[in-house]
Amino acid sequence: MIVTIDGPAGAGKSSVARKLAKELGYHFLDTGAMYRCVTLACLERGIPLGEPDKVADEAQRLKIELLDDEVFLDGKNVSEEIRTPRVTKAIKQVADNLKVRAAMVQSQRQWIQGKDAVTEGRDQGTIAFPDAPCKIFLTASPAERARRRVLQLLNAGIDADFDEILRLQEERDKNDMERETGGLRPAPNALTVQTDGMDESQVLQKLLEIVRSRVQTNP
Ligand code: C5P
Repeated sequence: MIVTIDGPAGAGKSSVARKLAKELGYHFLDTGAMYRCVTLACLERGIPLGEPDKVADEAQRLKIELLDDEVFLDGKNVSEEIRTPRVTKAIKQVADNLKVRAAMVQSQRQWIQGKDAVTEGRDQGTIAFPDAPCKIFLTASPAERARRRVLQLLNAGIDADFDEILRLQEERDKNDMERETGGLRPAPNALTVQTDGMDESQVLQKLLEIVRSRVQTNP
């Protein structure tokens, strides 16, 4: 069984997809972490993001290992570094790079072979796994997503301004939706789950119901 979960930044996909995989006893693939690793490697190694062929060569050379909650890049634990604003700000050029996207999709398909898995990103149901039997588009309104992000930062002791978070989020949404290849959109046969007003455990229950009913129809 392959469960794809796509959706915009801040919809809570990573956290709930990880928990869903755990509940089901499936593997979990965080594809955003892969684009983040390529971006971090280029920034650290002085590879200009504006030179698509060099970035793509680097992407093909890299060894990215996604283990439970940790991410390793060429053997180094980069789980925290890949989530810094420096990486998030620079990621657009990497995610827009068609050769990088092709390499990432190829390794996602290799990784998933022979596994039951939950895979999460922007293009998992549309491009990477168009034949997946269970596709979910997880979303929430921009204001709800920004509000959750502010709370998350405040809980981590970091000051956060709602308007600024909303502005950055709109920028990312625009970049992700306007990307011609691998852009953010629901697959035609995806089930959209709108999570405004739901807490994480309610979202998890909803996703479990969806997957279990699909497993019954696709034994
Ligand atoms: O999911 P996360 O926020 O970590 O993803 C970081 C960025 O990587 C996204 O904003 C998007 O530009 C890119 N991405 C992508 N395709 C995916 C997953 C992530 O283009 N499958």
